[in-house]
Amino acid sequence: MLAIAVLAAGKGTRMKSALPKVLQPLAGATLVERVLRGCRHLRPERQILIVGHQAERVRRSLAAVEGLEFVLQEPQQGTGHAVQQLLGPLRDFQGDLLVLNGDVPLLRPETLEQLIKRHHQSDAAVTLLTARLADPTGYGRVFADASGEVSAIVEHRDCSDEQRRNDLTNAGIYCFDWPRLAAVLPDLRSDNDQGELYLTDTVAMLRPAMHMEVEDPHETSGINDRGQLAACEAVLQERLRRHWMAEGVTFTDPASCTLSDGTRFGRDVVVDPQCHFRGENRIGDGCRLGPGCLIENTTLGTGVSVLYSVLRDARVEDGCTVGPFAQLRAGAHLAADCRIGNFVEVKNSRLATGVKANHLSYLGDADLGAGVNVGAGTITANYDGVRKHRTVIGAGSKTGANSVLVAPIVLGEGVTVGAGSTLTRDVPAGALAVARGRQVVREDWPGPLPRD
Ligand code: UD1
Ligand code: CA
Repeated sequence: MLAIAVLAAGKGTRMKSALPKVLQPLAGATLVERVLRGCRHLRPERQILIVGHQAERVRRSLAAVEGLEFVLQEPQQGTGHAVQQLLGPLRDFQGDLLVLNGDVPLLRPETLEQLIKRHHQSDAAVTLLTARLADPTGYGRVFADASGEVSAIVEHRDCSDEQRRNDLTNAGIYCFDWPRLAAVLPDLRSDNDQGELYLTDTVAMLRPAMHMEVEDPHETSGINDRGQLAACEAVLQERLRRHWMAEGVTFTDPASCTLSDGTRFGRDVVVDPQCHFRGENRIGDGCRLGPGCLIENTTLGTGVSVLYSVLRDARVEDGCTVGPFAQLRAGAHLAADCRIGNFVEVKNSRLATGVKANHLSYLGDADLGAGVNVGAGTITANYDGVRKHRTVIGAGSKTGANSVLVAPIVLGEGVTVGAGSTLTRDVPAGALAVARGRQVVREDWPGPLPRD
Protein backbone atom coordinates (compact mmCIF):
# COMPACT_ATOMS: atom_id res chain seq x y z
CA MET A 1 0.00 0.00 0.00
CA LEU A 2 1.23 3.42 -0.94
CA ALA A 3 0.35 6.93 0.22
CA ILE A 4 1.88 10.01 -1.33
CA ALA A 5 2.32 13.31 0.47
CA VAL A 6 3.41 16.42 -1.39
CA LEU A 7 4.79 19.24 0.75
CA ALA A 8 3.36 22.50 -0.53
CA ALA A 9 2.74 24.64 2.54
CA GLY A 10 5.83 26.83 2.41
CA LYS A 11 5.77 30.45 1.40
CA GLY A 12 8.78 30.38 -0.86
CA THR A 13 10.34 33.51 0.61
CA ARG A 14 13.27 33.39 -1.80
CA MET A 15 10.98 33.75 -4.83
CA LYS A 16 9.98 37.25 -3.62
CA SER A 17 6.53 36.75 -5.12
CA ALA A 18 2.88 37.34 -4.21
CA LEU A 19 2.23 33.87 -5.64
CA PRO A 20 2.86 30.84 -3.41
CA LYS A 21 5.96 29.10 -4.72
CA VAL A 22 4.24 25.87 -5.70
CA LEU A 23 1.91 27.85 -7.99
CA GLN A 24 4.75 29.36 -10.01
CA PRO A 25 4.37 28.30 -13.64
CA LEU A 26 6.86 26.13 -15.44
CA ALA A 27 6.35 25.39 -19.15
CA GLY A 28 2.65 26.09 -18.73
CA ALA A 29 1.89 24.07 -15.59
CA THR A 30 2.40 25.03 -11.95
CA LEU A 31 5.21 23.43 -9.97
CA VAL A 32 2.80 21.43 -7.85
CA GLU A 33 0.80 20.25 -10.88
CA ARG A 34 4.03 18.90 -12.32
CA VAL A 35 4.90 17.11 -9.11
CA LEU A 36 1.42 15.56 -8.93
CA ARG A 37 1.53 14.54 -12.58
CA GLY A 38 4.90 12.88 -12.04
CA CYS A 39 3.45 10.43 -9.50
CA ARG A 40 -0.06 9.83 -10.81
CA HIS A 41 0.95 6.58 -12.51
CA LEU A 42 1.92 5.04 -9.15
CA ARG A 43 -1.79 4.70 -8.33
CA PRO A 44 -1.46 5.45 -4.63
CA GLU A 45 -4.13 4.51 -2.08
CA ARG A 46 -4.01 8.04 -0.72
CA GLN A 47 -2.69 11.24 -2.24
CA ILE A 48 -2.30 14.14 0.15
CA LEU A 49 -1.21 17.70 -0.41
CA ILE A 50 0.04 19.60 2.62
CA VAL A 51 -1.06 23.21 2.26
CA GLY A 52 -0.49 26.23 4.49
CA HIS A 53 0.68 29.50 3.00
CA GLN A 54 -2.23 30.78 0.87
CA ALA A 55 -3.85 27.38 1.36
CA GLU A 56 -7.16 28.35 -0.23
CA ARG A 57 -5.49 29.55 -3.41
CA VAL A 58 -3.43 26.38 -3.74
CA ARG A 59 -6.50 24.25 -3.02
CA ARG A 60 -8.59 26.10 -5.61
CA SER A 61 -5.93 25.72 -8.28
CA LEU A 62 -6.04 21.93 -7.83
CA ALA A 63 -9.77 21.51 -7.28
CA ALA A 64 -10.05 19.42 -10.45
CA VAL A 65 -7.49 16.79 -9.38
CA GLU A 66 -9.41 13.65 -8.56
CA GLY A 67 -8.88 11.95 -5.21
CA LEU A 68 -6.49 14.58 -3.86
CA GLU A 69 -6.83 15.21 -0.11
CA PHE A 70 -5.70 18.46 1.46
CA VAL A 71 -4.17 18.67 4.91
CA LEU A 72 -3.59 22.06 6.50
CA GLN A 73 -0.28 22.92 8.16
CA GLU A 74 -0.74 26.10 10.19
CA PRO A 75 1.65 27.69 11.07
CA GLN A 76 4.45 26.31 8.87
CA GLN A 77 7.29 25.17 11.09
CA GLY A 78 9.35 23.12 8.69
CA THR A 79 9.20 20.01 6.55
CA GLY A 80 9.14 17.69 9.60
CA HIS A 81 6.27 19.66 11.08
CA ALA A 82 4.48 19.37 7.71
CA VAL A 83 4.69 15.56 7.79
CA GLN A 84 3.64 15.52 11.45
CA GLN A 85 0.26 16.80 10.21
CA LEU A 86 -0.28 13.35 8.68
CA LEU A 87 -0.25 11.57 12.04
CA GLY A 88 -4.02 12.08 12.28
CA PRO A 89 -5.10 11.45 8.67
CA LEU A 90 -2.83 8.38 8.29
CA ARG A 91 -3.48 6.98 11.79
CA ASP A 92 -4.50 3.55 10.55
CA PHE A 93 -2.36 3.44 7.43
CA GLN A 94 0.13 0.58 7.28
CA GLY A 95 2.02 0.98 4.00
CA ASP A 96 4.75 3.16 2.51
CA LEU A 97 4.65 6.92 2.46
CA LEU A 98 6.27 8.63 -0.50
CA VAL A 99 7.11 12.23 0.42
CA LEU A 100 7.73 14.69 -2.39
CA ASN A 101 8.79 18.30 -2.12
CA GLY A 102 6.33 20.49 -4.01
CA ASP A 103 9.22 22.48 -5.47
CA VAL A 104 11.08 19.60 -7.19
CA PRO A 105 9.25 19.42 -10.52
CA LEU A 106 11.56 17.66 -12.99
CA LEU A 107 11.52 14.20 -11.50
CA ARG A 108 10.82 11.48 -14.05
CA PRO A 109 8.13 8.91 -13.21
CA GLU A 110 10.61 6.04 -13.79
CA THR A 111 12.86 7.41 -11.08
CA LEU A 112 10.06 7.29 -8.50
CA GLU A 113 9.25 3.74 -9.52
CA GLN A 114 12.88 2.74 -9.07
CA LEU A 115 13.03 4.43 -5.67
CA ILE A 116 10.03 2.46 -4.41
CA LYS A 117 11.41 -0.76 -5.82
CA ARG A 118 14.78 -0.17 -4.19
CA HIS A 119 13.05 0.61 -0.90
CA HIS A 120 11.25 -2.72 -0.95
CA GLN A 121 14.33 -4.70 -1.91
CA SER A 122 16.41 -3.32 0.96
CA ASP A 123 13.64 -3.45 3.54
CA ALA A 124 14.85 -0.05 4.76
CA ALA A 125 12.89 2.23 7.08
CA VAL A 126 13.50 5.02 4.60
CA THR A 127 15.05 5.27 1.13
CA LEU A 128 15.77 8.74 -0.17
CA LEU A 129 16.81 10.14 -3.48
CA THR A 130 20.19 11.85 -3.78
CA ALA A 131 22.16 13.64 -6.46
CA ARG A 132 25.78 14.65 -6.83
CA LEU A 133 25.81 18.29 -7.83
CA ALA A 134 28.61 20.44 -9.20
CA ASP A 135 27.16 23.27 -7.12
CA PRO A 136 25.39 21.82 -4.07
CA THR A 137 24.81 25.22 -2.46
CA GLY A 138 21.53 25.38 -0.57
CA TYR A 139 20.84 21.64 -0.51
CA GLY A 140 20.96 19.37 2.52
CA ARG A 141 24.11 17.19 2.47
CA VAL A 142 23.71 13.43 2.76
CA PHE A 143 26.29 11.46 4.71
CA ALA A 144 26.35 7.87 3.57
CA ASP A 145 28.73 4.90 3.49
CA ALA A 146 29.78 2.86 0.47
CA SER A 147 26.87 0.44 0.92
CA GLY A 148 24.42 3.31 0.52
CA GLU A 149 23.42 3.49 4.16
CA VAL A 150 22.75 7.04 5.31
CA SER A 151 23.80 8.23 8.75
CA ALA A 152 22.54 11.81 8.61
CA ILE A 153 21.41 14.75 6.51
CA VAL A 154 22.73 18.18 7.44
CA GLU A 155 21.15 21.31 5.92
CA HIS A 156 23.50 23.59 4.01
CA ARG A 157 23.11 26.37 6.57
CA ASP A 158 23.86 24.02 9.46
CA CYS A 159 26.96 22.49 7.80
CA SER A 160 30.55 23.09 8.80
CA ASP A 161 32.93 24.13 6.00
CA GLU A 162 34.21 20.57 5.94
CA GLN A 163 30.66 19.15 5.60
CA ARG A 164 29.85 21.57 2.79
CA ARG A 165 32.51 19.92 0.66
CA ASN A 166 30.27 16.86 0.47
CA ASP A 167 28.52 17.09 -2.90
CA LEU A 168 25.93 14.34 -2.23
CA THR A 169 22.67 16.24 -1.86
CA ASN A 170 19.21 15.42 -0.58
CA ALA A 171 16.57 15.71 -3.31
CA GLY A 172 13.68 16.06 -0.88
CA ILE A 173 12.10 12.82 -2.16
CA TYR A 174 11.70 9.98 0.33
CA CYS A 175 10.05 6.62 0.58
CA PHE A 176 9.29 5.90 4.25
CA ASP A 177 7.87 2.92 6.01
CA TRP A 178 5.00 4.93 7.47
CA PRO A 179 4.48 3.16 10.83
CA ARG A 180 8.21 3.45 11.59
CA LEU A 181 8.28 7.13 10.56
CA ALA A 182 5.14 7.86 12.55
CA ALA A 183 6.84 6.44 15.65
CA VAL A 184 9.75 8.91 15.48
CA LEU A 185 7.99 12.03 14.10
CA PRO A 186 6.96 13.30 17.55
CA ASP A 187 10.64 13.27 18.63
CA LEU A 188 11.80 15.92 16.13
CA ARG A 189 13.50 18.94 17.66
CA SER A 190 14.01 22.42 16.30
CA ASP A 191 17.63 22.94 17.40
CA ASN A 192 18.88 24.18 14.03
CA ASP A 193 19.70 27.45 12.33
CA GLN A 194 16.07 28.08 11.28
CA GLY A 195 14.44 26.84 14.49
CA GLU A 196 12.24 24.50 12.40
CA LEU A 197 11.34 20.83 12.56
CA TYR A 198 13.27 19.16 9.76
CA LEU A 199 11.97 16.02 8.09
CA THR A 200 15.59 15.28 7.22
CA ASP A 201 16.35 14.71 10.91
CA THR A 202 14.18 11.58 10.93
CA VAL A 203 16.76 9.88 8.74
CA ALA A 204 19.22 9.63 11.63
CA MET A 205 16.45 8.09 13.80
CA LEU A 206 15.45 5.40 11.33
CA ARG A 207 17.47 2.25 10.72
CA PRO A 208 18.42 1.32 8.14
CA ALA A 209 18.19 4.51 6.08
CA MET A 210 19.32 4.06 2.47
CA HIS A 211 19.79 6.36 -0.48
CA MET A 212 19.52 6.00 -4.22
CA GLU A 213 21.54 8.33 -6.41
CA VAL A 214 19.91 9.63 -9.60
CA GLU A 215 21.80 9.41 -12.86
CA ASP A 216 20.71 12.81 -14.16
CA PRO A 217 21.14 15.39 -11.40
CA HIS A 218 18.82 17.81 -13.27
CA GLU A 219 15.92 15.65 -12.21
CA THR A 220 16.18 16.60 -8.60
CA SER A 221 16.65 20.34 -9.05
CA GLY A 222 14.70 22.17 -6.38
CA ILE A 223 13.28 25.59 -7.05
CA ASN A 224 13.84 28.20 -4.39
CA ASP A 225 14.44 31.35 -6.44
CA ARG A 226 13.80 32.80 -9.90
CA GLY A 227 17.23 31.75 -11.14
CA GLN A 228 16.45 28.10 -10.38
CA LEU A 229 12.99 28.53 -11.91
CA ALA A 230 14.58 29.72 -15.15
CA ALA A 231 17.13 26.90 -15.06
CA CYS A 232 14.34 24.30 -14.69
CA GLU A 233 12.35 25.93 -17.47
CA ALA A 234 15.40 25.59 -19.69
CA VAL A 235 15.77 21.90 -18.84
CA LEU A 236 12.08 21.22 -19.54
CA GLN A 237 12.13 23.13 -22.81
CA GLU A 238 15.20 21.23 -23.92
CA ARG A 239 13.48 17.91 -23.07
CA LEU A 240 10.39 18.92 -25.08
CA ARG A 241 12.37 20.07 -28.11
CA ARG A 242 14.49 16.91 -28.13
CA HIS A 243 11.36 14.81 -27.90
CA TRP A 244 9.73 16.51 -30.88
CA MET A 245 12.86 16.53 -32.98
CA ALA A 246 13.03 12.78 -32.41
CA GLU A 247 9.41 12.61 -33.63
CA GLY A 248 10.22 14.35 -36.90
CA VAL A 249 9.89 18.09 -36.30
CA THR A 250 12.56 20.43 -37.70
CA PHE A 251 13.55 23.42 -35.58
CA THR A 252 15.86 25.76 -37.46
CA ASP A 253 16.86 27.47 -34.21
CA PRO A 254 15.61 25.23 -31.41
CA ALA A 255 16.89 27.29 -28.51
CA SER A 256 14.80 30.29 -29.58
CA CYS A 257 11.50 28.36 -29.40
CA THR A 258 9.44 27.35 -26.38
CA LEU A 259 6.96 24.46 -26.17
CA SER A 260 4.28 23.24 -23.79
CA ASP A 261 3.54 19.67 -22.68
CA GLY A 262 0.18 19.91 -24.42
CA THR A 263 1.55 20.70 -27.89
CA ARG A 264 1.53 17.81 -30.36
CA PHE A 265 3.15 17.95 -33.79
CA GLY A 266 2.66 15.85 -36.88
CA ARG A 267 5.48 14.82 -39.23
CA ASP A 268 7.67 17.16 -41.26
CA VAL A 269 6.66 20.32 -39.48
CA VAL A 270 9.25 23.08 -39.83
CA VAL A 271 9.46 25.55 -36.98
CA ASP A 272 11.52 28.64 -37.72
CA PRO A 273 13.07 30.82 -35.00
CA GLN A 274 11.13 32.52 -32.21
CA CYS A 275 8.01 30.40 -32.17
CA HIS A 276 6.23 29.90 -28.87
CA PHE A 277 3.61 27.27 -28.18
CA ARG A 278 1.39 27.40 -25.11
CA GLY A 279 -1.42 25.25 -23.77
CA GLU A 280 -2.95 22.51 -25.90
CA ASN A 281 -2.02 22.67 -29.57
CA ARG A 282 -2.41 20.17 -32.39
CA ILE A 283 -0.12 20.92 -35.32
CA GLY A 284 -0.77 18.88 -38.46
CA ASP A 285 1.76 17.29 -40.83
CA GLY A 286 3.85 19.55 -43.00
CA CYS A 287 3.03 22.86 -41.32
CA ARG A 288 5.54 25.66 -41.72
CA LEU A 289 5.59 27.93 -38.72
CA GLY A 290 7.50 31.12 -38.06
CA PRO A 291 9.61 32.97 -37.73
CA GLY A 292 7.94 34.81 -34.88
CA CYS A 293 4.69 33.09 -33.85
CA LEU A 294 2.72 32.67 -30.64
CA ILE A 295 0.37 29.69 -30.89
CA GLU A 296 -1.89 28.84 -27.97
CA ASN A 297 -4.71 26.29 -27.61
CA THR A 298 -4.94 26.05 -31.37
CA THR A 299 -5.46 23.30 -33.91
CA LEU A 300 -3.75 23.46 -37.30
CA GLY A 301 -4.53 21.04 -40.11
CA THR A 302 -1.93 19.80 -42.57
CA GLY A 303 0.27 22.10 -44.61
CA VAL A 304 -0.70 25.29 -42.82
CA SER A 305 1.80 28.11 -42.90
CA VAL A 306 1.95 30.84 -40.28
CA LEU A 307 4.35 33.76 -40.33
CA TYR A 308 4.85 36.39 -37.59
CA SER A 309 1.38 35.91 -36.13
CA VAL A 310 -0.54 35.31 -32.91
CA LEU A 311 -3.09 32.46 -32.83
CA ARG A 312 -5.11 31.74 -29.71
CA ASP A 313 -8.04 29.37 -29.23
CA ALA A 314 -8.31 29.08 -32.99
CA ARG A 315 -8.83 26.31 -35.51
CA VAL A 316 -7.19 26.41 -38.93
CA GLU A 317 -7.80 23.69 -41.49
CA ASP A 318 -5.57 22.26 -44.21
CA GLY A 319 -3.57 24.46 -46.54
CA CYS A 320 -4.34 27.84 -44.98
CA THR A 321 -1.79 30.62 -44.81
CA VAL A 322 -1.78 33.11 -41.96
CA GLY A 323 0.29 36.28 -41.68
CA PRO A 324 2.57 38.02 -41.64
CA PHE A 325 1.23 40.01 -38.69
CA ALA A 326 -2.22 38.48 -38.32
CA GLN A 327 -4.14 37.71 -35.16
CA LEU A 328 -6.58 34.82 -34.77
CA ARG A 329 -8.49 35.04 -31.53
CA ALA A 330 -10.96 32.84 -29.64
CA GLY A 331 -13.37 31.04 -31.91
CA ALA A 332 -11.64 31.85 -35.19
CA HIS A 333 -12.28 28.85 -37.44
CA LEU A 334 -10.75 28.81 -40.90
CA ALA A 335 -11.82 26.04 -43.27
CA ALA A 336 -9.30 24.74 -45.81
CA ASP A 337 -7.26 27.01 -48.06
CA CYS A 338 -8.09 30.37 -46.48
CA ARG A 339 -5.58 33.20 -46.65
CA ILE A 340 -5.30 35.68 -43.84
CA GLY A 341 -2.79 38.42 -44.51
CA ASN A 342 -1.15 41.32 -42.75
CA PHE A 343 -2.97 43.21 -40.01
CA VAL A 344 -6.07 41.07 -40.16
CA GLU A 345 -7.81 40.10 -36.91
CA VAL A 346 -10.36 37.28 -36.77
CA LYS A 347 -12.47 36.54 -33.70
CA ASN A 348 -15.40 34.18 -33.12
CA SER A 349 -15.90 33.80 -36.85
CA ARG A 350 -16.24 30.95 -39.25
CA LEU A 351 -14.58 31.30 -42.62
CA ALA A 352 -15.59 28.69 -45.20
CA THR A 353 -13.15 27.21 -47.71
CA GLY A 354 -10.95 29.57 -49.68
CA VAL A 355 -11.84 32.85 -48.00
CA LYS A 356 -9.25 35.55 -48.59
CA ALA A 357 -8.72 38.48 -46.22
CA ASN A 358 -5.35 39.73 -47.23
CA HIS A 359 -4.99 43.13 -45.65
CA LEU A 360 -6.07 45.34 -42.75
CA SER A 361 -9.38 43.82 -41.61
CA TYR A 362 -11.40 43.00 -38.53
CA LEU A 363 -13.70 40.00 -38.83
CA GLY A 364 -15.57 39.54 -35.54
CA ASP A 365 -18.71 37.43 -34.92
CA ALA A 366 -19.01 36.72 -38.64
CA ASP A 367 -19.85 33.81 -40.94
CA LEU A 368 -18.20 33.98 -44.34
CA GLY A 369 -19.21 31.62 -47.14
CA ALA A 370 -16.80 29.82 -49.45
CA GLY A 371 -14.50 31.95 -51.55
CA VAL A 372 -15.47 35.30 -50.07
CA ASN A 373 -12.92 37.98 -50.93
CA VAL A 374 -12.58 40.48 -48.12
CA GLY A 375 -11.28 43.79 -49.43
CA ALA A 376 -8.51 45.66 -47.69
CA GLY A 377 -9.77 47.51 -44.64
CA THR A 378 -13.13 45.71 -44.41
CA ILE A 379 -14.52 45.87 -40.88
CA THR A 380 -17.40 44.01 -39.32
CA ALA A 381 -18.84 46.52 -36.84
CA ASN A 382 -20.07 43.87 -34.40
CA TYR A 383 -20.59 45.90 -31.23
CA ASP A 384 -23.32 48.48 -30.73
CA GLY A 385 -21.99 49.57 -27.36
CA VAL A 386 -24.13 47.08 -25.46
CA ARG A 387 -24.26 43.81 -27.37
CA LYS A 388 -22.36 41.94 -30.08
CA HIS A 389 -24.13 41.06 -33.34
CA ARG A 390 -23.32 38.75 -36.22
CA THR A 391 -22.39 39.49 -39.80
CA VAL A 392 -23.17 36.92 -42.49
CA ILE A 393 -21.52 37.14 -45.90
CA GLY A 394 -22.70 34.68 -48.55
CA ALA A 395 -20.37 32.52 -50.63
CA GLY A 396 -18.54 34.20 -53.48
CA SER A 397 -19.18 37.73 -52.26
CA LYS A 398 -16.59 40.47 -52.53
CA THR A 399 -16.29 43.50 -50.28
CA GLY A 400 -14.58 46.63 -51.56
CA ALA A 401 -11.76 48.35 -49.75
CA ASN A 402 -12.75 50.10 -46.53
CA SER A 403 -16.23 48.59 -46.25
CA VAL A 404 -17.93 48.77 -42.88
CA LEU A 405 -20.59 46.11 -42.32
CA VAL A 406 -22.72 47.21 -39.38
CA ALA A 407 -24.10 44.09 -37.67
CA PRO A 408 -26.56 42.50 -37.47
CA ILE A 409 -26.43 42.24 -41.23
CA VAL A 410 -26.78 39.52 -43.87
CA LEU A 411 -25.23 39.71 -47.32
CA GLY A 412 -26.51 37.04 -49.70
CA GLU A 413 -24.34 34.98 -52.03
CA GLY A 414 -22.37 36.69 -54.76
CA VAL A 415 -22.84 40.19 -53.38
CA THR A 416 -20.47 43.00 -54.37
CA VAL A 417 -19.89 45.84 -51.93
CA GLY A 418 -18.55 49.09 -53.34
CA ALA A 419 -15.37 50.46 -51.83
CA GLY A 420 -15.84 52.82 -48.89
CA SER A 421 -19.40 51.68 -48.16
CA THR A 422 -20.94 51.63 -44.71
CA LEU A 423 -23.77 49.07 -44.91
CA THR A 424 -26.51 48.97 -42.30
CA ARG A 425 -29.14 46.91 -44.16
CA ASP A 426 -29.18 43.38 -45.61
CA VAL A 427 -28.22 42.87 -49.26
CA PRO A 428 -29.90 40.18 -51.43
CA ALA A 429 -27.90 37.63 -53.41
CA GLY A 430 -26.16 38.84 -56.52
CA ALA A 431 -26.70 42.56 -55.82
CA LEU A 432 -24.26 45.44 -55.75
CA ALA A 433 -24.43 47.58 -52.61
CA VAL A 434 -22.84 51.00 -52.50
CA ALA A 435 -23.33 53.35 -49.57
CA ARG A 436 -21.06 56.33 -49.65
CA GLY A 437 -21.14 60.06 -50.42
CA ARG A 438 -21.25 60.77 -54.15
CA GLN A 439 -18.16 62.28 -55.62
CA VAL A 440 -18.54 65.99 -56.46
CA VAL A 441 -16.24 67.59 -59.04
CA ARG A 442 -16.24 71.41 -59.47
CA GLU A 443 -14.35 72.43 -62.59
CA ASP A 444 -14.84 76.15 -61.83
CA TRP A 445 -13.00 75.81 -58.50
CA PRO A 446 -10.78 78.89 -57.87
CA GLY A 447 -8.13 76.86 -56.03
CA PRO A 448 -6.58 77.68 -52.67
CA LEU A 449 -6.97 81.37 -51.74
CA PRO A 450 -3.81 83.30 -50.85
CA ARG A 451 -3.57 84.28 -47.13
CA ASP A 452 -3.37 87.94 -46.04
C1 UD1 B 1 14.68 20.87 1.58
C2 UD1 B 1 15.46 19.85 2.44
C3 UD1 B 1 16.88 19.76 1.89
C4 UD1 B 1 16.86 19.36 0.44
C5 UD1 B 1 15.96 20.30 -0.38
C6 UD1 B 1 15.76 19.72 -1.77
C7 UD1 B 1 14.53 19.97 4.69
C8 UD1 B 1 14.73 20.47 6.07
N1 UD1 B 1 15.47 20.27 3.82
O1 UD1 B 1 15.30 22.13 1.78
O2 UD1 B 1 17.63 18.80 2.63
O3 UD1 B 1 18.17 19.34 -0.09
O4 UD1 B 1 14.68 20.45 0.22
O5 UD1 B 1 15.07 20.59 -2.62
O6 UD1 B 1 13.55 19.32 4.44
N2 UD1 B 1 7.23 23.08 3.20
C9 UD1 B 1 6.07 22.85 3.88
N3 UD1 B 1 5.95 23.29 5.16
C10 UD1 B 1 6.96 23.94 5.80
C11 UD1 B 1 8.16 24.17 5.10
C12 UD1 B 1 8.28 23.72 3.79
O7 UD1 B 1 5.12 22.27 3.34
O8 UD1 B 1 6.76 24.31 6.97
C13 UD1 B 1 7.33 22.63 1.80
C14 UD1 B 1 7.65 23.75 0.83
O9 UD1 B 1 6.45 24.31 0.32
C15 UD1 B 1 8.46 23.04 -0.24
C16 UD1 B 1 9.11 21.88 0.49
O10 UD1 B 1 8.42 21.73 1.71
O11 UD1 B 1 7.64 22.53 -1.26
C17 UD1 B 1 10.59 22.15 0.76
O12 UD1 B 1 10.72 23.31 1.54
P1 UD1 B 1 11.95 24.33 1.36
O13 UD1 B 1 11.80 25.39 2.37
O14 UD1 B 1 12.06 24.73 -0.05
O15 UD1 B 1 13.17 23.39 1.77
P2 UD1 B 1 14.69 23.54 1.32
O16 UD1 B 1 15.34 24.59 2.10
O17 UD1 B 1 14.78 23.63 -0.15
CA1 CA C 1 13.36 23.86 -1.74
